[in-house]
Amino acid sequence: MPSVTEHYENHLAPIYVWMAGGMDAAISRGQAEVNAICPRAPSQSQWAVDLGAGFGMHAIALADIGYSVLAIDSSGTLLDAMRSRIGARPIKTVRDDLLCFRNHLDGPAFLIVCMGDTLTHLPDQQSVEQLFADVAATLEAGGTFIVTFRDYSTPLIGLKRFIPVRSDADRILTCFLEYDEVAVTVHDILHERNGSDWRQSVSAYRKLRLSPDWVGSTLEAKGLQVRIEPGLAGMTRLIANLLPGRR
Ligand SMILES: C[S@@+](CC[C@H](N)C(=O)[O-])C[C@H]1O[C@@H](n2cnc3c(N)ncnc32)[C@H](O)[C@@H]1O
Repeated sequence: MPSVTEHYENHLAPIYVWMAGGMDAAISRGQAEVNAICPRAPSQSQWAVDLGAGFGMHAIALADIGYSVLAIDSSGTLLDAMRSRIGARPIKTVRDDLLCFRNHLDGPAFLIVCMGDTLTHLPDQQSVEQLFADVAATLEAGGTFIVTFRDYSTPLIGLKRFIPVRSDADRILTCFLEYDEVAVTVHDILHERNGSDWRQSVSAYRKLRLSPDWVGSTLEAKGLQVRIEPGLAGMTRLIANLLPGRR
């Protein structure tokens, strides 16, 4: 099976903006979400970190509410798409594993986000625990961590495992989910029109089956105060604060 990075670079990244409904619509959605849930930057010198930033639908909005932003992603294609839209905004784009985000900061951050089901892309629960320890060690006292992800802990069964993602006259993307004990294998089945024919390409990758309760209690074990709520598009959102005085 391809790694997450290979799956994105060879299969998903070239169609990701289309899958998200187009750049303008996605950036508007990111702005609405950021404006609704993220604290404003107390000053321009404050850092926000976007872990798995993709093409920047949240990073751009974070810069617009006053942060200097570190946007980290393993996909060069998606980072190129972001760079084409950031203009003069203070966004530092970095191609690296998000687990290494601390290597690219020289001070604390006031806000860290990991949006759009990126968390489940990590290889195992130990990596998630390590990430949360690094988040807690990087946040300023009073700072916030926000994560949104899909809850795959209860498996879909039978035909419910076939999920239509997006389609138009020239492209159809469908997911098929296959569960094991700790992960779900996501098969992305893409059909693209080629003249009067259709070309099919298929690639698969693994996502972790993380329950919101486990994610919440793991963050609390790192000293964060956690609120769990519904997110957008069927995701779960956790908003975690490092209380003043905890450092
Ligand atoms: C589902 S997309 C979400 C993108 C963006 N946060 C959003 O909400 O649209 C997951 C992103 O995480 C990136 N990614 C997955 N695993 C990663 C890792 N270990 N390090 C860095 N980026 C990663 C992918 O390249 C992709 O851009």
